[in-house]
Amino acid sequence: MASFLLFILMSTLHFQFGFPLSSNTNSNEDFKYMNFVQDASELPENEEYDYIVIGGGTAGCPLATTLSSTFSVLLLERGNVPTKYPTVLREETFPNAFTIEDDGENPFQRFVSEDGVEIIRGRVLGGSSMLNAGFYSRGHQEFFDISGVDWDMELVEKAYEWVEESVVFEANINNGWQNAFRKALLEAGVGPYNGFDLNHRIGTKIGGSIFDKEGNRHGSLELLNKAHPNNLKVAIQATVQKILFSDLSATGVSYSDSKGNLHTASIRKNGEIIVSAGTIGSPQLLLLSGIGPKSHLESLELPVVLDQPHVGQSMSDNPRYNVHVILPYQLATSAVKTVGTLENNVHLQSITGFLPFSLPPSFSLVPPGLDSVNLSLASIVGKFSEVLSEGSLYLTSSTDVKKNPSVSFNYYSHPDDLAKCVRGVRKMGELLKTEAMEKIKIQDFEGNKRFAFVEPSLPENLSDVGSVEEFCKKTVTTYWHYHGGCLVGKVVDGNYKVIGIENLRVVDGSTFIDSPGTNPMATVMMLGRYVGLNIIQERSKLFSRDVGHNIM
Ligand SMILES: Cc1cc2nc3c(=O)[nH]c(=O)nc-3n(C[C@H](O)[C@H](O)[C@H](O)COP(=O)(O)OP(=O)(O)OC[C@H]3O[C@@H](n4cnc5c(N)ncnc54)[C@H](O)[C@@H]3O)c2cc1C
Ligand SMILES: *[C@@H]1O[C@H](CO)[C@@H](O)[C@H](O)[C@H]1NC(C)=O
Ligand SMILES: *[C@@H]1O[C@H](CO)[C@@H](O)[C@H](O)[C@H]1NC(C)=O
Repeated sequence: MASFLLFILMSTLHFQFGFPLSSNTNSNEDFKYMNFVQDASELPENEEYDYIVIGGGTAGCPLATTLSSTFSVLLLERGNVPTKYPTVLREETFPNAFTIEDDGENPFQRFVSEDGVEIIRGRVLGGSSMLNAGFYSRGHQEFFDISGVDWDMELVEKAYEWVEESVVFEANINNGWQNAFRKALLEAGVGPYNGFDLNHRIGTKIGGSIFDKEGNRHGSLELLNKAHPNNLKVAIQATVQKILFSDLSATGVSYSDSKGNLHTASIRKNGEIIVSAGTIGSPQLLLLSGIGPKSHLESLELPVVLDQPHVGQSMSDNPRYNVHVILPYQLATSAVKTVGTLENNVHLQSITGFLPFSLPPSFSLVPPGLDSVNLSLASIVGKFSEVLSEGSLYLTSSTDVKKNPSVSFNYYSHPDDLAKCVRGVRKMGELLKTEAMEKIKIQDFEGNKRFAFVEPSLPENLSDVGSVEEFCKKTVTTYWHYHGGCLVGKVVDGNYKVIGIENLRVVDGSTFIDSPGTNPMATVMMLGRYVGLNIIQERSKLFSRDVGHNIM
């Protein structure tokens, strides 16, 4: 189902994108976090910390940093440092996320959902913020209203700002296409124009980006640069196998290093273990640790710590609907820069990359005097929020944490989702009819101007609901904003504490009932900071003389 031609085209791009970054050293302020990093194989067999954070991803990094201001923290990340795969640090090589094969160790962990859709998970320090399209936009109000959390909105604001002062830039409209796309959105009535804005807005805006104007990526791992210099240890190639318990209290974790040796890390009195292993990793780890539906755990002969039917349930993915157009010019690769948002939270965005093909002079498109013309590919992609279709996550017969669990999302099983897709596709149709888009049409043999679509093109008759619905279902793929599995109110309470277990929280995208805003990363980073601040506050109230422990 997901075998889009785009995928094939992008695969062939692979060689063009191999942009080596000069080796980064700690002398560069951005890479200060390297001072905290140690390979897990260098760590002792047993250690104690106030807090252990599992997963050095989008939420885990800001969370560990925040806790380190007051407590000793161990951050365990199964992947390596991104400097080992420097292409993830650059915008022009961001399409690697669609092409590079999963070798079991690199940042690109792939899996195919039970729906047949190809999906990717981050496996690197910085998590999926090192693979993504970089767009940064805050959550929408409805997300906060329905999320089951009694938010302190002042603290939310402060937490967003803390993230933004370090890793967020005004998205750089680095090629003519993003500008044309923005104009087309406005012509198609996706107004008003809100200029540059980090807040969620109806209309068209330029958002934030974790790519700076030179195209360097500043993922969540750069938030580690703000950690207390003596209180944080970041272990890489540290794969957590399970959480350890004494009755219904979490006491520590067991993790393996790259040499296959097992280590144990335990928490001190009043400490906690926080799972930030992502939407796939967090429910998977709870299941492997014995928290989940009893019958499922028993069928795999896993010891049951707590019978919890909701772990791995309510898995949702925002379906992507899209068109890809070949452009007869060379454009710089561009991640997401602008967004058009309709009421009902239907969103349109775009990315471009250039193609490894050029047209020979025999084509009328090639101006006289030129040998050839280079081609680019522009993708117009659509998403909607408040997805109502749901699936679930189960362990396969393999209880190896490195293997992907079985995941289904049941795209479009809820009719309201289909109606939103129809709205988005129709708007895409209007957008393609605009003056701004006229320029990207090319002339065919009969002399007619048309879009050079890479299949699939939009249905001919967008008034015909049936054919648009069919387009939605037939072309469904992922927007990579999958969420759920450890929902607030079901698996964790409003403070992200695992219900029924002491000293254990889950803090990441797996807790979301809805994908926040147009794109979730901003809110995932904010959440790490927010929960960290809450924990510090809560503990200072409970234990006024309890000051935590330094590592060094
Ligand atoms: C291709 C792509 C494009 C995207 N584009 C955008 C975008 O432009 N804007 C946006 O806002 N969002 C975007 N997203 C979505 C966004 O990146 C994610 O929603 C977000 O990063 C998820 O954060 P997380 O903390 O929940 O998980 P992650 O960031 O994935 O972190 C989980 C971490 O836990 C580690 N881990 C897992 N299991 C274990 C274990 N057992 N032991 C130790 N460590 C473990 C993983 O290696 C990983 O580092 C995109 C995502 C993808 C994949
Ligand atoms: C096409 O791409 C090649 C390789 O990047 C470059 O050398 C050449 O100048 C480009 N041609 C045009 C017309 O942009
Ligand atoms: C498009 O679909 C609508 C609704 O089904 C129908 O009434 C109309 O005749 C169709 N138009 C064309 C040109 O087929």
